[in-house]
Amino acid sequence: MVAKPAIEGGVRIERRINSRLSEIDMDNIPFGREFSDHMLVVNYTDGKWQQPEIKPYGPIAFTPAMSALNYGQSIFEGMKAYRGTDGDIRLFRPKENLSRMNRSAERMCMPAIPEDIFMNGLKQLLTLDANWVPKQEQGTLYIRPLMYATDDYIGVKSSDNYQFVLFTCPVGLYYKEPVNLLVTKEFVRAAIGGTGAAKAAGNYAAAMLPDKIAKSQGYHNILWLDGRDHLYIEECGTMNVFFVVGDTVLAPRLVGTILPGITRKSVMRLIRDNGYKMEVRRISIHEIEEAYEEGLLKETFGTGTAASIAHVNMIGFQGKKMFLPPVEERAIGNWLSDTLNDIKHGNAKDPYGWVTKL
Ligand code: COI
Repeated sequence: MVAKPAIEGGVRIERRINSRLSEIDMDNIPFGREFSDHMLVVNYTDGKWQQPEIKPYGPIAFTPAMSALNYGQSIFEGMKAYRGTDGDIRLFRPKENLSRMNRSAERMCMPAIPEDIFMNGLKQLLTLDANWVPKQEQGTLYIRPLMYATDDYIGVKSSDNYQFVLFTCPVGLYYKEPVNLLVTKEFVRAAIGGTGAAKAAGNYAAAMLPDKIAKSQGYHNILWLDGRDHLYIEECGTMNVFFVVGDTVLAPRLVGTILPGITRKSVMRLIRDNGYKMEVRRISIHEIEEAYEEGLLKETFGTGTAASIAHVNMIGFQGKKMFLPPVEERAIGNWLSDTLNDIKHGNAKDPYGWVTKL
C-alpha cells in the first residue's frame, strides 16, 4: 500500500504506508539481502534526466531486449550511511562516489549524473528511510547507486535511454573473518585500455569463475596480478590492497587497471599525514614472497566501502601459503580501521571534512 504521491524537495515521492523494518533482525544482518522500504529512480530519455522519483523498493519492468542485459552497459557505486553514538546519520565522502560514477559513465559511454540529482535524491531517500540506518554496533546502511542502459534494441550501440537507481540495505560485515587471497596467473581482471578502473558490472561478472575456483580451495577472493606480465599486484575485485613490509606501507600504483578506491585514497592520506613511510608503486608478487621469506611481511589488508579494512590471513601463490601475523599484531591496519570508524561515526574529529551529516 502506498500513500498519495507528492513532490517533496524536487522529488516525486510515493511512500509505503507500512514499513518492512519490523521484519528485520538488526542484530543479525547479513550483507546485502534485506532492502530498505524505498528506492530512487530517475530515467534518462530524450537526452536529459527526467523527474526523480522515490517509490517502494521492488521489481522494475524490462524486456529481454534491454541493452544492459545484452551488452553490459551497467555501472554502480558502493557507499554507506553511518549512525553515530549521537544518533546522527553521516555519509563518508559522497561526492567522491558521484565523481567516480561519472568517470565510470564516461568510460562506458553513458550520460553523467548531475550532482543535484544524485545528492538531493540520496538525501531525500535517506531521510525517508532514516530508521533503516542501524545503530553503530549493529552495522551500517549500504547504499547502491546503479545506472544501466534501457534501450529495447539488440543492435550493438550505446543506449539512448538509461535508468539511475539508488537503493539501500542495512548490512553487517562483508568479511566476517580475516581473508585468504589466491594469486592466479591463469585469469586476468583487467588490461591497460580496458575497464578495470571503472565500476562496471562486467568487471565483476568476469571475476566470478576465478572467484568460484578460489572459494572451492578455501580462499575468499582472488588477488589479481596485472594483465600483461602477470607479475604486479593490482587489487582484489571487492577491495584495494595494502602491504606492510618492515616499517613501510606499500600500495599498488593506479595504472588504469585498478579501481581508484575512496577508502584507499583516505587510508593513504591518513598514512602519509601520520608519519608512516609509504611507497605507491608497482609491487611484484615475488617481492611480497621474498618479504615473507625474510619475515618482513607484517601486514596485508584490503580497503573498500563494503570491506572497510579487511585483514588478510593468508596469501596463496603457486602452491605456497603465506600466513600473516596474528591480527592483534597488525598495528597499522588496526589503527586505520579504528581511525576511519571513529571519523565515520562522529566519534573523532574529521580534520579533512570527509563526513557529511544528513
Ligand atoms: C563496495 O565496496 O561498495 C563494492 O562495491 C564492492 C562490492 C563488490 C561489494
